[in-house]
Amino acid sequence: MLSELVCFEPNCRARFPIAEVIYNCPGCGGLLEVELTGTLPADMKSTWRQRRLCNTPIDQSGVWRYRELLPFGDGEYAVTLREGDTPLLKAPRAAAYAGLDQITFKHQGYNPTGSFKDNGMTCGATQAVRLGMRRVACVSTGNTSASMAAYAAAGGLDAIVLIPHGNISYGKLAQALEYGARTLQVEGANFDEILALVRMLAEKLGIYLLNSINPFRIEGQKTIVFEMMDQRDWNPPDWIVLPGGNLGNTSAFGKALRELKAHGLISRLPRLAVIQAEGAAPFHEYWRGGPYRKVAHPETLATAIKIGDPVSYPKALREVAETQGVVEKVTEPEIADAKATIGRAGIGCEPASAATLAGIKKLVAAGVMRKDADVVAVLTGHVLKDPDYIYHYHTGQLTAAGNIKIPSRLGNQPVVVPNDAAAIERILEGQ
Ligand code: F0G
Repeated sequence: MLSELVCFEPNCRARFPIAEVIYNCPGCGGLLEVELTGTLPADMKSTWRQRRLCNTPIDQSGVWRYRELLPFGDGEYAVTLREGDTPLLKAPRAAAYAGLDQITFKHQGYNPTGSFKDNGMTCGATQAVRLGMRRVACVSTGNTSASMAAYAAAGGLDAIVLIPHGNISYGKLAQALEYGARTLQVEGANFDEILALVRMLAEKLGIYLLNSINPFRIEGQKTIVFEMMDQRDWNPPDWIVLPGGNLGNTSAFGKALRELKAHGLISRLPRLAVIQAEGAAPFHEYWRGGPYRKVAHPETLATAIKIGDPVSYPKALREVAETQGVVEKVTEPEIADAKATIGRAGIGCEPASAATLAGIKKLVAAGVMRKDADVVAVLTGHVLKDPDYIYHYHTGQLTAAGNIKIPSRLGNQPVVVPNDAAAIERILEGQ
């Protein structure tokens, strides 16, 4: 299909060639999105299914398999680590916790670097290679940097990562180091402030920016929805639930749904439910009708979504409205207990991902989501991304900003025992 960059602002809609290195409309400053024009061959559903059986890297990838709906032609530049191919998992315990008859998790933590960012980053890195860029950069709450570092390494690019010092989990920081990214821990600044910094530096130094403002990242993240529908034999659920931070993923999901509907691949749009952490919920306030007001000092232990000024909020608002969706916010204890519940289902996820289940529980209780609804919640990151959080929760030491203790309601305390079979036996038999 033919592709162009188009300004997202309805009264601008300026168009630019796909090879232009821009992230905002040079005319009005609006966000950009890729527009694909043309018709799909009639038998795409079976072609995509057949590709799962092929051994070529781009057919094995759960992103590049859907390349007809991506702006990269036949994928000749693809930088792939066999991303995507993430499972749909049933979790009756988690459903009961939320008050639903059933729930399905689409677990993006099964990706090569353990988060949904890989779906987008394979495309972002590919665009960097196609453009002949040598260096790529991002600010991150941890997952984007881990993913960018890996894909840059795989694509022969130099990676520059900027992170808020002391505010990302060690699992994620460790990944950036291991994959060889030049890692700068910025002192005394949060994600939003560093984003302004990295945008300026990227422009000045000719470095390709790979934050989700980059429309090619969004293109890749669409495939989370494509694959989900393919796995469900193209039967849309009633709801797709996801956590909201910088809102790139919300934008990608909405765009994916619109495209599937326009090409006749699905018959109706599921509703999007975006869940934010209470201390970092500017989109929730905006969606409720307030003016858009950034949160100057966002706070949440779900550090992945500790963002107070999400760049993609205009796109996200349109996508949520288009699907008649909702935006909800949840507290720190709600996230912590939902996370432990997902763990007890044998699945596990990082804190930000668990905001989904916490939000669903609230939406069911409020009567917004029906008990018998068909719900897919997207778990965005792997359980091992943030082991400190887990240990602190289960040992009753999890503390939120302002020294607020999070109750360890579903805690599972490790027990120290003597090196003595009889003593261990007494403990195990409850004597
Ligand atoms: N869940 C996880 C695990 C994330 O890492 C992020 C974002 C989100 C949800 C929110 O997604 O920004 O598209 O609304 N992490 C970014 C990062 C910001 O730098 O890794 P979003």
